[in-house]
Amino acid sequence: MITQTKNPNNLSTLPVRVHPQATIHELIAARRSPRAFSARPVEPSALASLFEAARWAPSSANEQPWHFVVATKADAAAYFALSESLAEANRRWAQRAPVLVLALAKSTYSRNGRPYEHSWYDVGQAVALLSVQATAMNLAVHQMGGFDGAKVQRLLSIPAEFTPVIIFAVGYPDQPESLPEDLQKRELAPRSRKPLEHFVFTEEWGKPSPHVSAKDSFSTQPSTN
Ligand SMILES: Cc1cc2nc3c(=O)[nH]c(=O)nc-3n(C[C@H](O)[C@H](O)[C@H](O)COP(=O)(O)O)c2cc1C
Repeated sequence: MITQTKNPNNLSTLPVRVHPQATIHELIAARRSPRAFSARPVEPSALASLFEAARWAPSSANEQPWHFVVATKADAAAYFALSESLAEANRRWAQRAPVLVLALAKSTYSRNGRPYEHSWYDVGQAVALLSVQATAMNLAVHQMGGFDGAKVQRLLSIPAEFTPVIIFAVGYPDQPESLPEDLQKRELAPRSRKPLEHFVFTEEWGKPSPHVSAKDSFSTQPSTN
């Protein structure tokens, strides 16, 4: 049986469904990556809370390799640099978002200058925490790997030691109807995930762990209301 969780905010026009035997926190269930963003500006204090959440992420040797360049529409030059660096397929919806952020990874350890192999992993964790914090504040985050890293590095004069990892859009979500028709369809398409048995193994590679075996998949379905 698949049940519908309470949606804690107005983030999603889609109901969130989770497996009844593996309940998750409602904030994780409600997080999603929308393309429809309201023009409503994001308050500076809200932005600060997002980066504060990222700040408390774990990292190798507590190196905290994450760096961010944040641009609201008022920061016209930086917003332009981030928007221009996006792949066109992303720019067409992301440029509606009131805030764009570039996340970067420092590629060496500060204490000894050695290569920092887990830096991207740590940046990902910081952005994940930021995304959940955003969900708690009725904000949406949509990450985009589709951008030109060399271009953004050049446009923002970023030192070579820092590698662009992801650009993400931040803003208050809007109705899917605010999007062009093709994007509306994608926004309303069912969301799905692989079943746990496909990636949680035990004893031998490929053998599903009995701790996670369940008959239902973890799909989400679009709302009918
Ligand atoms: C590293 C990474 C790169 C992504 N790149 C893009 C992208 O270029 N364009 C896009 O529309 N979404 C992008 N996404 C968003 C994913 O498509 C999205 O997270 C995934 O489909 C699951 O949907 P959900 O976040 O709503 O659960 C990216 C997400 C991650 C984590």
